[in-house]
Amino acid sequence: MSKKPIIIDTDPGIDDAAALAIALFSEELDVRLITTVNGNVSLEKVTYNTLRLLKLFEKNISVAKGAERPLIEDPIDASNVHGETGMDGYEFEEPDNSLLLEEHAVTAMYKEIINSDKKITLLPIGPLTNIALLFRLYPEVKENIEEIVLMGGSSGRGNSSVMAEFNIHADPEAAKIVFSSGLPIVMAGLDVGLKALIYPEDSEQLKDMNKTGHMIYHLFKKYRGGSFNTGLKMYDSCAVAYLLKPELFETIDTYVDVELNGAMTKGATIVDFKGYLNKESNVRVCVDINAEEFKKWFIDSIQKCN
Ligand code: BDR
Ligand code: CA
Repeated sequence: MSKKPIIIDTDPGIDDAAALAIALFSEELDVRLITTVNGNVSLEKVTYNTLRLLKLFEKNISVAKGAERPLIEDPIDASNVHGETGMDGYEFEEPDNSLLLEEHAVTAMYKEIINSDKKITLLPIGPLTNIALLFRLYPEVKENIEEIVLMGGSSGRGNSSVMAEFNIHADPEAAKIVFSSGLPIVMAGLDVGLKALIYPEDSEQLKDMNKTGHMIYHLFKKYRGGSFNTGLKMYDSCAVAYLLKPELFETIDTYVDVELNGAMTKGATIVDFKGYLNKESNVRVCVDINAEEFKKWFIDSIQKCN
């Protein structure tokens, strides 16, 4: 079976680190490019973190630096969840900076997509700034994109404000552009992310499994997306899991829009299950996950890493 070509847009991020590990060691995915975006911490830090991860994984994948701020809003961050560095808890080796492209993430994505013989799947697991800029600058790329499988949004309440999930809250205007792009979108948001939990006994299995498991164990000790003792939330791995094992998810196709005007609800995803807005479905929303099977898949996937 030929591998699925993907581009990962990310802001590592402890749960991003786990998602990247799984994607990079999967036999079914061909990661063509990794782009970085200001999100959990600054663009400089997330880019440095991406390069540090690639060094540990011993993977030569090109990295391109993207947006250093959201389109309109002031930046917010999630260093309270991931630590000041964005990946607190593990002593990484210094990275190989030769993997870092000179060109901007948007240019690098454009070239990769336009020149690809097969349609590319986009896997954004941070704020959607780079993807929105890509669609505005080079709308022609849409022709050669298979689908967008993203971590973001919620059909219920938020984790960054009362109603908004972090990746959408961090750049709501960008999210609006992406959700209205006309491309097939899969939304793996909080509906599943809050249930995709890794418990202490799972983390203990990772500890001496291999180099990647050891690193992830130490990051997990510092991660504040949930709690080490009562369950850590593997938000970003849900997007990778959807690509590799969609049968883990229950989905509903419906219309989703992004609230831009609410004084207290900006960045909320409006998931119109009941059709109040009379709009065609534009998103496949992951509404539930088989948490037990997800956990097994997660551990098996880390076992395949170096
Ligand atoms: C999302 O926000 C970030 O903190 C995580 O990396 C994930 O992408 C969860 O809301
Ligand atoms: Ca992320």
